[in-house]
Amino acid sequence: MAIRPIVRLGHPTLRQTAKPVDSARLADPETQTLIDDMIETMLDADGVGLAAPQIGADLQLFVYLSFPGDGAEPIEKVLVNPTLVPERGDLIEEWEGCLSIPDLRGLVPRHAAIRAHGLDRDGKTVDERAEGINARILQHEFDHLNGIVFLDRMRDMRSLAFSDEWAEFMVDESEEEAPVG
Ligand code: NI
Repeated sequence: MAIRPIVRLGHPTLRQTAKPVDSARLADPETQTLIDDMIETMLDADGVGLAAPQIGADLQLFVYLSFPGDGAEPIEKVLVNPTLVPERGDLIEEWEGCLSIPDLRGLVPRHAAIRAHGLDRDGKTVDERAEGINARILQHEFDHLNGIVFLDRMRDMRSLAFSDEWAEFMVDESEEEAPVG
């Protein structure tokens, strides 16, 4: 396994719609190695998600951490060719950051709960409901497959801040965490 360079805003793959992954491509050892590398790269960068376009790969897949919610360790997951179906309800604004837009935090409106469909790394069907931080991470990574970054979703750019200033002035100590993906 290897840590791959994460591309930053301005790199063209971050603004493209990624290509679907067919079953032969998914089973290819090169793609499986890419997935292993993406997980290692995400963990090394202290991220909770990483989409293939963020390492310059034009593929509809991302890796992410799923938080069980009872204080248990997060689970590493992979989603290929995803679709997301939001559940009804108001959008909720919470802080986010992005590994491709280093050091910035902003308030981003997201659906509170979604259902995610797609494939896992073995090509098996995934159909999973997610809410709260898990729903937020999935929406952030899904956007990366469609050329969208969290800045595009922000309603008010005045909440944008560098992470040090954000921690000092914009959040209290109890909530000094923002998912970065
Ligand atoms: Ni991101």
